[in-house]
Amino acid sequence: MSLRVGVLTGGGDCPGLNAVIRAVAKSLIRHGQCEVLGIQDGFEGLMAPVPRVELLDWQRVSGILHVGGTILGTSNSANPLRDAATLDQVAGNVRMLGLDVVIAIGGDGTMSLAHGVAQATGIQCVGVPKTIDNDIAHCERSFGFDTAVATAAEALRRIESTASSHHRVMIVETMGRHAGWLALEAGLAGAADVILLPEIDYSVGAVAAHCRAREQRQRYTIICIGEGAKARGDALTVREQVTGSPDPVRLGGVGHVLRMQLQPHLRSEVRTTVLGHVQRGGDPTPFDRVLATRFGHHAAELVLAQRFGEMVTLDGARIGSVPIAAVANVQRKVTPEHELVVMARDIGVCLGD
Ligand code: F6P
Repeated sequence: MSLRVGVLTGGGDCPGLNAVIRAVAKSLIRHGQCEVLGIQDGFEGLMAPVPRVELLDWQRVSGILHVGGTILGTSNSANPLRDAATLDQVAGNVRMLGLDVVIAIGGDGTMSLAHGVAQATGIQCVGVPKTIDNDIAHCERSFGFDTAVATAAEALRRIESTASSHHRVMIVETMGRHAGWLALEAGLAGAADVILLPEIDYSVGAVAAHCRAREQRQRYTIICIGEGAKARGDALTVREQVTGSPDPVRLGGVGHVLRMQLQPHLRSEVRTTVLGHVQRGGDPTPFDRVLATRFGHHAAELVLAQRFGEMVTLDGARIGSVPIAAVANVQRKVTPEHELVVMARDIGVCLGD
């Protein structure tokens, strides 16, 4: 069987994308009779009048396992479903390139685009989940998350020493969109005293009371807050709206809002650090390198078995797959009953409620 396979990375980048690209290409090349083409800048590379692609041969994908970002480039504003003309352009390019299948590596937004394109044009797709937010349905762990947790936890540790010297309340804002996984695991790993999640609206009074109690004893407090968190009755803190993007809302800045809310109630100074894109950059951890390699290898297996329309998943320790339709535009969120939330409460972490 001879196959031409396109690979693209869509949405925000994350550590481990190159490891997936490498595993997909090496598995298919070694299988024989497969040619792998990298599509540049996500769906944008297929929307251009002349498609932007490059050959992913053995040499091109060597030496990239541990490198952050994506050698293919990505876009989180490209929308192949924008209009009929764009869809025609994408379908025409896929035909012209002779692609039998496109492997889309991305988050729930990219999965929803891949599903929409497949439905509208008949282009075959296989999905690989990626995100530092860890919010993709049916996937317990996406690669990139472990690296982002390690980066944020390290930042919390560094903040703690200066917080303790100045007897301050230090707020650290993580990414994560509408899911609190990153704030929760980084907060636990970084020994935060207060962890505020998008899934549990916080009471300013409850957070202030916890900080005041610590003013008496430890004299400093570390608060880890996810960017999608909000006080009861408040709206989300939106950093900007990106026009044309399938998901136009960019969150960010709730750490500053919280500082303004808390300061009047406290004697200690309150300061905010927004971690931002440092959480998405850098080399993947060994865990993420292995997980990303497993995902890429399984995507190649799905292609060879002609199991199109499926997305790779991790269920417990087991790699599997589900229909892409089952994950398109669905987000996996932290539940208040989740073991980590219950444990955090039991060890005295304030969840803000
Ligand atoms: O989905 C990944 C993510 O890093 C989110 O955690 C964050 O809200 C968003 O992307 C930031 O997007 P941008 O890079 O467009 O600012």
